[in-house]
Amino acid sequence: MNNRRVIVKVPASTANLGPGFDTLGMALSLYAWIEMSVSDRTEFHFYGDQMQGLPRDKTNLIYKVAQLVFSEADVSIPELSIGMYSDIPLTRGLGSSASAIVGALAAANALIGSPLTDDKLFQMATALEGHPDNVGASLFGGIVVSAWDGQRADYVRLAPNEKLETLVAIPAFQLSTEKARHALPSQISMADAVFNVGRSSLLVAALASGELGLIRHAMKDRLHQPYRAALIPGMTTILERAADYGALGAALSGAGPTLIAFVSTDCPDKGAIEQFLLDTLKQEGIEAETLWLAPCADGPQITVEDISATAPMPLPDRIKGEVKV
Ligand code: HSE
Repeated sequence: MNNRRVIVKVPASTANLGPGFDTLGMALSLYAWIEMSVSDRTEFHFYGDQMQGLPRDKTNLIYKVAQLVFSEADVSIPELSIGMYSDIPLTRGLGSSASAIVGALAAANALIGSPLTDDKLFQMATALEGHPDNVGASLFGGIVVSAWDGQRADYVRLAPNEKLETLVAIPAFQLSTEKARHALPSQISMADAVFNVGRSSLLVAALASGELGLIRHAMKDRLHQPYRAALIPGMTTILERAADYGALGAALSGAGPTLIAFVSTDCPDKGAIEQFLLDTLKQEGIEAETLWLAPCADGPQITVEDISATAPMPLPDRIKGEVKV
């Protein structure tokens, strides 16, 4: 393993998909890359503006997650060289922390010959993140339906429908998951619980069967979105009216503030949906960036190299051409 250099490309994710709070997730075609090798002393090579301010010592999340893998596998590698580049915006509801956790687990496991199963990595990732939705999507790709009881997470992966694509509107402000979870009530009514069980079940069935026309009814939620609306001005209008502009449905992406519209690849006027999202946010004084993202069918893509056989090349040079432009 001392001769190995591992490079992992891991997808972003959207969680909840509306009604499936802490349960549903889908991987998206936006990526982070983590490079890991054994070193004489721990060092970090972070690329891009986003990485500024992240810890560059052994308190770093990637380092700590890697050490959990080594400890689980009964291997000792105290010093690591870690590189990272990410196109996934931080604290916007696109699963950046889940991608970092999954990327670190996959990279560390590959570095030591992959002794841990994907299921084991999923259990570890879920316990680290506190819910399985984002980590499941980043680890398995596609749409992941999962349930966690605090001990064990179970999941089923669904292949995303070929006609499904997404438009995300990423507001130019950050919203921590902690703050967005703090807005939630500790109790809800039986009527709201039944409402969400129905919508979430219908959504999974619609996504599994390809009945995409049902998404508009199924993507509704009463567990978290109404309580988070005050944190994301314009959200309620977007969720209520996106389908009028041709979207299949719309939701808050994870804990927000990003909004996500599900759109059919057949949609005749995608520009109208994009304009509606941008205009609605702008009316609230919020600038946003839009991105068209496809569901990503794959989990981490892992490359293992022999350090002695390949010349060192900085991570950005290796992934040039793949990063978001
Ligand atoms: N299910 C989580 C939430 C996703 O909505 O709080 C964000 O990490």
